[in-house]
Amino acid sequence: MTDPWAEWLLHRRDGDDPDRRREVLAFLAPIRDRVLAAAAIGPADTVLDVGCGDGLLGLAALDRAAEVVFSDVSPALLEHCRAAAGGRGRFVHTGLPDLAGIDDAAVDAAVLRSVLMYVPDKPAGFRALHRVLRPGGRLSLFEPVNRFSREPAGRLWGYDVSAVPELALRVTRVARPDPGGPILGFDERDLLAAAEAAGFVELRLTYEASVGDSVGPPFRTMLDIAPNPTSPTYGEVLDRALTPAERDRLIAHFDAHPTRHHRSAVAYLSARRR
Ligand SMILES: C[S@@+](CC[C@H](N)C(=O)[O-])C[C@H]1O[C@@H](n2cnc3c(N)ncnc32)[C@H](O)[C@@H]1O
Repeated sequence: MTDPWAEWLLHRRDGDDPDRRREVLAFLAPIRDRVLAAAAIGPADTVLDVGCGDGLLGLAALDRAAEVVFSDVSPALLEHCRAAAGGRGRFVHTGLPDLAGIDDAAVDAAVLRSVLMYVPDKPAGFRALHRVLRPGGRLSLFEPVNRFSREPAGRLWGYDVSAVPELALRVTRVARPDPGGPILGFDERDLLAAAEAAGFVELRLTYEASVGDSVGPPFRTMLDIAPNPTSPTYGEVLDRALTPAERDRLIAHFDAHPTRHHRSAVAYLSARRR
């Protein structure tokens, strides 16, 4: 049993490369710890992990809370978490924007990482999170703000492609998510406004942007990796957009100009239900 969400988290995020998997976990561990710390979980608490995925937040919360409710739209990922949780936890097949199947005022804390970015109706999502929290309950979440990362013409995946504009344009047409879609169509202020409109109080938003140049692993080692669950892998994008000869020419260009410019931004948001 699998689905695109499980395929990505368990395989396509790291291309089944163990070194890359370790790097991903090392990158995520401090984010996990910040989200859980801001949820102020106590030993008597029931914690809801919304969009639990392969259990980054929920598995770590098991040792801090009385109960953890793992919820996701992917049955395969719920099964993955059940196997990893060693007989602990509850598992609910549900998702945003409504969290059907989670009772009103049922949990003391709700935690999420990189889930709202896939939900078209984010205000409704915040209303559901507010509904399932008991009065005084805490919300803590992390989301990438991908609108900040949009690249100008002449840049592709961080590489300077101004010397190969026609190849880059065809790849861009295949690779770019819809600018008005759920992944790019929001920023940190939208998250804050939607949380406030849902009735949350004591809102705290931390926005972190980073811009810089670096030389990473050769592009060909990334071909089996997809940047997010709704994207093809880099190799699949090239196969769809280019002929084999053009694909080789573009990869040779990346090899010859390996510096990548990155622009990324993330938001941490915590709040309380009155
Ligand atoms: C990028 S993964 C993040 C997984 C996990 N939260 C983590 O921190 O590693 C996105 C997760 O959101 C889940 N998801 C997608 N759409 C959802 C929705 N509408 N409601 C709840 N979860 C959703 C996916 O199944 C996937 O597990």
